[in-house]
Amino acid sequence: MRKRSNETVSTETTLIPANYTVQEVFGFPSQLQLAGYAPGHALVPKATPGYVWDARIARDFIEWLTEPNPDPLWISGPTGCGKTDALKNVFAALNIPTVIVSAKSSTEPDDILGRVQLRGGDTVFVPGNLLLAYEKGHAIILDEIDGYNPEVLMACHRLLERAVVTLDDGTIIQPASRIYMAATANTRGDGQGGDIYTATNIFNVASLNRFEKWEMTYPPPEVEEQILENMFSGKLQSNIMKAMVKTATDIRRAYLDGNCPSPVSIRDLLRWGRKLIQAWNRKDVAPLYHSFDKAFGNGVDPHVRAMLHTLIQTNFGVPAPEIQGVSP
Ligand SMILES: Nc1ncnc2c1ncn2[C@@H]1O[C@H](COP(=O)(O)OP(=O)(O)O)[C@@H](O)[C@H]1O
Ligand SMILES: [Mg+2]
Repeated sequence: MRKRSNETVSTETTLIPANYTVQEVFGFPSQLQLAGYAPGHALVPKATPGYVWDARIARDFIEWLTEPNPDPLWISGPTGCGKTDALKNVFAALNIPTVIVSAKSSTEPDDILGRVQLRGGDTVFVPGNLLLAYEKGHAIILDEIDGYNPEVLMACHRLLERAVVTLDDGTIIQPASRIYMAATANTRGDGQGGDIYTATNIFNVASLNRFEKWEMTYPPPEVEEQILENMFSGKLQSNIMKAMVKTATDIRRAYLDGNCPSPVSIRDLLRWGRKLIQAWNRKDVAPLYHSFDKAFGNGVDPHVRAMLHTLIQTNFGVPAPEIQGVSP
């Protein structure tokens, strides 16, 4: 049997279990205890400043976190609805070290599981991040999993079942007693969405079967308004932020109806807010529209953009500027 490299584990910090209340993690008045670790590990993700919990998602997380043996999650949902951020903020609040695996289409199973390397004349097995996390009980986020080569996911089947893994070279990897694994994806892994998510893959039922499935959408207006409020309060008036959220909701509706090629994400809304504050005093442009176009509008065809401008005009009562080449 080959030697296993131990240099990758030499910097390990011991994890000290610690409990946190639902109130501490999600901000809702409940003293229910959730298991995590004492702070201090370098791999604990950073919480998002001004993060706002949607009560429904928080309740789903509480269910998952209190399961004796939680299954891996497959969280599907449109781009920028907050899938990755929700996971990061849960693990941040519980101080659970987290490994985020972002695979490319060219990623092979060995890239994330580990590979045999030559070290000082010996061949040693160097485990990949994912296997190390599996052994140590770190949370694992398989980000944008539908961009992975399906073969990679097949190679992870035993991990997804939290089984003992024996690698080709005889190396035995025991899972930690508790592991949170979660995948984020634009699709359910079944080819959902047709053309819009072109680089996504279709996975076999055996792979998909191993996941607990969640579908996330953009947050309800009151949550999105609070996100903007936390970010821009004192810089943008509340009624402006409300109208921005209303516009985002209208554009998402237009997207679902097939009238706009993509939905507006939370990221786009935040960018609109930042750009609006910057452009506020400009006289050479219409700041509201100029900032919207930088956040989103310039990414779509001018005719679609003109239609989106009419939504802004309705929600803000500010006349839309003409777009060159598009008759009003
Ligand atoms: N609940 C939230 N509160 C505050 N900001 C959020 C929230 N959800 C998402 N965001 C913001 O939106 C951005 C996009 O979210 P992200 O989780 O990356 O989307 P997804 O993974 O669904 O594509 C994040 O970087 C963060 O700035
Ligand atoms: Mg993401």
